[in-house]
Amino acid sequence: MKVTVVGAGAVGASCAEYIAIKDFASEVVLLDIKEGYAEGKAMDLMQCASLNGFDTKITGITNDYSKTADSDICVITSGIPRKPGMTREELIGINAGIVKSVSSSLIEHSPNTIIIVVSNPMDTMTYLVHKSTNLPKNRIIGMGGALDSARFKYRLAEALEAPISDVDGMVIGGHSDTGMVPLTSHATRNSIKVSEFLSEDRLNQVKEDTKVGGATLTKLLGTSAWYAPGAAVSGLVQAIACDQKKMFPCSTLLEGEYGLSDLCIGVPVVLGRNGIERIVNIELSDAEKAHMQQSAEGVKKTNGLLEF
Ligand SMILES: NC(=O)c1ccc[n+]([C@@H]2O[C@H](COP(=O)([O-])OP(=O)(O)OC[C@H]3O[C@@H](n4cnc5c(N)ncnc54)[C@H](O)[C@@H]3O)[C@@H](O)[C@H]2O)c1
Repeated sequence: MKVTVVGAGAVGASCAEYIAIKDFASEVVLLDIKEGYAEGKAMDLMQCASLNGFDTKITGITNDYSKTADSDICVITSGIPRKPGMTREELIGINAGIVKSVSSSLIEHSPNTIIIVVSNPMDTMTYLVHKSTNLPKNRIIGMGGALDSARFKYRLAEALEAPISDVDGMVIGGHSDTGMVPLTSHATRNSIKVSEFLSEDRLNQVKEDTKVGGATLTKLLGTSAWYAPGAAVSGLVQAIACDQKKMFPCSTLLEGEYGLSDLCIGVPVVLGRNGIERIVNIELSDAEKAHMQQSAEGVKKTNGLLEF
């Protein structure tokens, strides 16, 4: 199993590290445009191998796509992250050009690959990969909901004063501060609805804290977060590589599901060896349906800024 990660920055390197530590891939190729940067990150990570007990080989390359040939999975993290006060949508100008050229170079050398898009604004970048390549829809996956759901569970556990392993929950919708739809109606603590334990006000607070989860970290760190994003990507990569048939919310091209079409947005999907093997339809409350509709309008507005 060969995995390429484009962008050896904060998220790309973290993602390569988690993939290696989980030790399911034979090879991870890290590629960056900055001379020597990916080589340096790869060497540093390889020097963790004996300490962390993994055999995954990590190689770093400067912009030579021939070394990515025949990758089973390619992750795109290249592009600029947001600074405090910025929205993800503001990154579109620079990141669209990067994502378009990177995806085309990857596919040229790995025509059968599955692509995971991480660069922001992620739903629009995932849509761009659909529009600018001829990959089938099951092989283009946007990562956002897996991270947002981890942040939701963190906030739920905090509110419940419970261990995170007691908590389950999912965030669907667009990967943006206003677009995220944390599914409080489905969230549980050991299969009991969280609304049994938390007041409506407290649940609303959890929802709001989840939606600004990325912005809160960007304010603290001066740039966007990387540990949880890297861990979330590695979970998706593992589900595909190990054909786990696990369910994650991912951004995928909708063609009528959830009453939406011609956009990529986060919905629950089953991931296995073929990438997105199934889109899962779940019942939403009226408020969640309305929020999903509003979220889709936001994503479509950002898609409208794309130039093909
Ligand atoms: N989808 C999500 O949930 C999520 C979470 C966190 C970050 N992000 C996004 O991921 C992206 C990366 O974030 P980061 O914190 O790692 O940024 P970073 O600046 O640390 O790393 C980005 C890397 O991309 C490289 N790069 C730029 N253009 C390139 C090109 N054409 N080819 C190859 N490499 C190129 C840069 O040299 C840099 O090393 C940002 O757009 C950020 O907003 C998404």
